[in-house]
Amino acid sequence: MKTEVVFVCRECDARLLKWMGRCPQCGQWNSIEEKVSQVIPKGRSRQSENVVAPIPIDQISHDRSPRLFTGMDELDRVLGGGLVRRSVILVGGDPGIGKSTLLMQALGTMSARGENVLYVSGEESLEQIKIRADRLGVSSKSFLVVAENELERILELMRTTGASVVVLDSAQSVSSQSVDSHPGSVSQVRHVAAASIEIIKRSQSACFLVGHVTKDGALAGPKVLEHMVDTVLYFEGDRGHPYRILRAVKNRFGSVSEIGVFEMTDAGLSEVVNPSEFFLSERPEGASGSVVTALVEGSRPILAEVQALVSGPTPGSGRRTCLGTDPQRLALMLAVIEKKLGFLLNDHDIFLNAVGGVRATEPAVDLGIVASVISSFCDRVIPFSSMIFGEVGLSGEVRPVAKAAARINEAARLGYSRIVGPKKNLDSCAFPEGAKFIPISHIRELPAILFEGE
Ligand code: TYD
Ligand code: MG
Repeated sequence: MKTEVVFVCRECDARLLKWMGRCPQCGQWNSIEEKVSQVIPKGRSRQSENVVAPIPIDQISHDRSPRLFTGMDELDRVLGGGLVRRSVILVGGDPGIGKSTLLMQALGTMSARGENVLYVSGEESLEQIKIRADRLGVSSKSFLVVAENELERILELMRTTGASVVVLDSAQSVSSQSVDSHPGSVSQVRHVAAASIEIIKRSQSACFLVGHVTKDGALAGPKVLEHMVDTVLYFEGDRGHPYRILRAVKNRFGSVSEIGVFEMTDAGLSEVVNPSEFFLSERPEGASGSVVTALVEGSRPILAEVQALVSGPTPGSGRRTCLGTDPQRLALMLAVIEKKLGFLLNDHDIFLNAVGGVRATEPAVDLGIVASVISSFCDRVIPFSSMIFGEVGLSGEVRPVAKAAARINEAARLGYSRIVGPKKNLDSCAFPEGAKFIPISHIRELPAILFEGE
């Protein structure tokens, strides 16, 4: 067979015609290697050996086999209503966030129901896995575990064990001898995923691939797999906080905006059925700068606390720091407050925090941000029962947002009865029992009503 010389980047798998000191695709130095690849002779391409004829769309039989439930409602919901057979799901997230814990718990409940499951660990020894299993109370004859790094042997196990769900923890720790690069490199990870997908598609099983997000921009991690798999879930959270959010960012079998909320406890992850209560559980009373706003994650409204701290003045321009909020959005809101309300904030340090590590980045939190900044700047307390939401435009107008009724009902359910929001939204929503609506259409109206009843 004929061969040709190619130059391949070890980091990002880019293919070049000549050697270079620095990869033009990923910018890595000294990562280009010379490789000899086989050239398939013209007229005898690999595909031509097994050409598949196209068929009319109405003749395709469609398998309606029911989904597999993991038994964890939060996970099932994010998956779009359970696991689809023959699908491959990538679970990405920072090391230590709880991916192995989540999947071991899910497999644990499935195996307790009698489902055959296989957990392949490329990172941990059997002893380490057993310690975690004991902690999680997972024990079952139909829960098979193997510590293995070699792809070929893992594929053989996937074929022969007949497990209905397989977890490969993690894709980066598995490698194939047929690929000439180190484990965790882009070409290895891609090959591992492609080979697993091929087997799963021809089976009755589903497979979870775990992928660590690497600190340096996730290049060798899950990003390269996202377009190959059916579903991509990210497990997020702040190590300093106990709760974790599972988010679908791609799902061929369901909505991508669903989230699942979990709390990491001593005995594994517990599902948080009522996230709003959870996020607001430690809200301080009588604190200026604190405001409750309503986010919508997928189909769920979630109430969260946003805190601002305006301190100063300091010499020169003030610093701005955002946690869980969007710095650009804050800059925009500060400019609008200065211009439309005349508060001079330029020489003040401003810190904005979405409490508990929640991500408050949708435009509907704008009015909440404005309210918390004003509250901290004036050092006056917003009445505890207030919930404030709405988008703010550049001229200070308060714009309506989507899913207003869901936000209002969630607030009313938890006793947040004083609801400040866009006039257009509040005019078209029904009053929940006991709620008081304060509609506004420009932030100019905010200072007068914000502290009412304080
Ligand atoms: P792990 O699932 O190993 O994370 P990942 O697979 O994403 O790297 O979880 C690691 C952290 O979770 C570790 O710091 C210990 C903590 N943990 C608990 O707090 N409770 C538990 O029951 C378990 C199993 C882990
Ligand atoms: Mg792990």
